[in-house]
Amino acid sequence: MPDTIRTPATLVTGANGEMGHGLIERLAEAGGHHIIAMDVRPIDDALKALCGTTLVGDILDSRLLERLASEYQIRAIYHLAALLSTRAEFTPEAAHRVNVEGTMSLLKLAIEQSRWQGAPVQFLFPSSIAVYGFPSVEAKRRAGKVREHEWTQPVTMYGCNKLYCEHLGRYYTRHYRQLAADAEKAAVDFRSIRFPGLISAVTVPSGGTSDYAPEMLHAAAQGKPYPCFVREDVRIPFMAMPDAITALLSLQAAPLARLTQTVYNITSFSPSAGEIRSIVRGAFPGSDVTFLPDDKRQAIVDSWPEDVDDSAARRDWGFAPAYDQKRAFEEYLIPTIRRRYR
Ligand code: SER
Repeated sequence: MPDTIRTPATLVTGANGEMGHGLIERLAEAGGHHIIAMDVRPIDDALKALCGTTLVGDILDSRLLERLASEYQIRAIYHLAALLSTRAEFTPEAAHRVNVEGTMSLLKLAIEQSRWQGAPVQFLFPSSIAVYGFPSVEAKRRAGKVREHEWTQPVTMYGCNKLYCEHLGRYYTRHYRQLAADAEKAAVDFRSIRFPGLISAVTVPSGGTSDYAPEMLHAAAQGKPYPCFVREDVRIPFMAMPDAITALLSLQAAPLARLTQTVYNITSFSPSAGEIRSIVRGAFPGSDVTFLPDDKRQAIVDSWPEDVDDSAARRDWGFAPAYDQKRAFEEYLIPTIRRRYR
């Protein structure tokens, strides 16, 4: 029987975060979605106008999720809420609760919704280069581009959480209750991207370890000094935020039959911290960026790869970033940040 009572909807958790902002704008622009935006902090007014429903609440609040299920037919979930890698190290158990138990409760919501709808609910999950873990800088340099199954020995709670949730998603999609006589016909359709460090011109991240790149840029644009917490020679992959959002939407739109994996690497450019400083100096000549490495945060970045192999994403769902390093800085980051702080 068709469900005529509950409104079809797209749920976005962590809506107030960096990705949430970009994603909700794009979903609203595309139209056709009743967006439910959920966050532990009140949703920004600018976003509110774009959403059908906004909710201040915790993803661990099972009553809240049950209420959502009674009111909406949730067709897709973008589960963006997480405690990032630096923040998670201060409260690892809390990080586990939010990052893992929170994901579990949303997967449960997704499978229940799939059963009601008789069709898989899509579950889009941002994972991270933090799932990788190199034992030394030499091993990292030698490895170059890493593939999805290589070097997955994360050193952070956040990395462990993301890696485990990738496995949970694959389990719910392919193996959920595999021994049951009524094994699932309409399982969850979990799709995940391992993002590199993301740089947005409109928001500043909080609590991540790749944050030195966006922080350097936003500080320089405001004429503030910035002591960078990693060495000049450190190198990890990055991407401009619009490409990250496009990637999520492209993966969501890809025909399931084309997807050979549930988790995909993507990347765009891999500058060293020193190279980022040179670009920032070129754009903001008076900028004052110094290198004052924090050994412990540095060690986390040293455990992340210099580059990732994203050939599976390119092959299966046509991933191709629009912004390489030059375009990202010259056409998106620098002009937009300039306007922002003028
Ligand atoms: N950019 C994130 C962080 O630094 C990793 O996903 O925590």
